[in-house]
Amino acid sequence: MRGKYSEIINAAWQAQRRAYAPYSHFAVGAALQTKEGKIFCGVNVENSAYGLSICAERSALFSAVSSGYREFSFLAVVSDSARPIRPCGACRQVLAEFDAELPIILVGSNGEVEITSLMELFPQPFSLTR
Ligand code: THU
Repeated sequence: MRGKYSEIINAAWQAQRRAYAPYSHFAVGAALQTKEGKIFCGVNVENSAYGLSICAERSALFSAVSSGYREFSFLAVVSDSARPIRPCGACRQVLAEFDAELPIILVGSNGEVEITSLMELFPQPFSLTR
């Protein structure tokens, strides 16, 4: 199972080192693979006005979309939490804009892997077109 996802998980760990988290001291890395196989990374970027901080998942998504990619095959999220962390509600809604069924790989600091999907974590997003 891990082999299939090792590249995207490694990319998320590399990115995590670039997190800017001087307030929470909780560094998160995300990697989003496009349907073409390209990987876009994101980190949490905090701000002294705390509410302006952005999560790693949205950073990765916005980076990919900014580069012209809108179709994705996987998202990986890593952090220093021993248990894998799941994307926050805001990120779930934002990810659902592009793929409400996105497969998601969550990895804890001890290597624990949880394979899930946006469909499972966030089955009923807001949508004008439902
Ligand atoms: N954070 C993420 O980047 N992704 C998550 O899935 C959960 C939380 C960030 C936001 C904040 O910078 C720090 O982790 C603590 O909440």
